[in-house]
Amino acid sequence: MISQLRWPRLIGHRGAAKWAPENTLASFFCAADLGAEWVELDVRLCKGGIPVVFHDETLERTTNGLGRVAQHRLDELKSLDAGTWFSPRFRDEPIPTLEEALSTIARLGMEVNIELKPDQGEALEMVQAALAVAKKVWPETAPPPLISSFSHEVLALANGLCPWPIGYLAERFDQDLLERARSVRAASLNLNANYVQPSHISAIHDAGMAVLAYTVNDPTEARRLWAMGVDSIFTDDPKSLSEG
Ligand code: G3P
Ligand code: MG
Repeated sequence: MISQLRWPRLIGHRGAAKWAPENTLASFFCAADLGAEWVELDVRLCKGGIPVVFHDETLERTTNGLGRVAQHRLDELKSLDAGTWFSPRFRDEPIPTLEEALSTIARLGMEVNIELKPDQGEALEMVQAALAVAKKVWPETAPPPLISSFSHEVLALANGLCPWPIGYLAERFDQDLLERARSVRAASLNLNANYVQPSHISAIHDAGMAVLAYTVNDPTEARRLWAMGVDSIFTDDPKSLSEG
């Protein structure tokens, strides 16, 4: 399967985070409107173990709630406003469940990178919950989701539980990382764009994996990375980068 993967030049980061509140359905609609073929989203578990689409460990930056996501039940999270912090135009935009987000993204005809962000000790519960939802709602006829994480434990579990491609997230490349990525049969290394070097790209490609770089919003920088051999770029701004 991995050899059949087709990597996009751009992946809308948290949807289209420059134009709409990140990780909301509004952001995924916006990414589709801007022509994104893929979007990335972040997953956390709420109290009760339901996967929701949310980046931070805590609610303060992007909602009117307080405290840790993991300490709130779904009904509590659903009562929050995850849009006004970005703009009053998005007032009362809710936090989506993973199920709602994947159904919407599939309906919009986009592909998806599901990034799993477990709390301490939560890896197995998170992988099982997120994969169960994804298997339920993601169309069998669509290209499979890319499952990524900074957690080796999560990726090893995901590799054992499903055939979908794995993206190994890390800040910087090193040889040891390549071995760890191989051990979970990763299809890609997803690296911080600031540290990607041509020698890393050759080593990763020689190992049969793709290089995905996050997060780039400057068209000149995107062109430099593509010219260097980076396969895909995560961007908050699919509009400017596709025009650049
Ligand atoms: O998956 C790429 C990127 O989203 C990883 O970092 O913190 O934005 O989730 P973060
Ligand atoms: Mg992410």
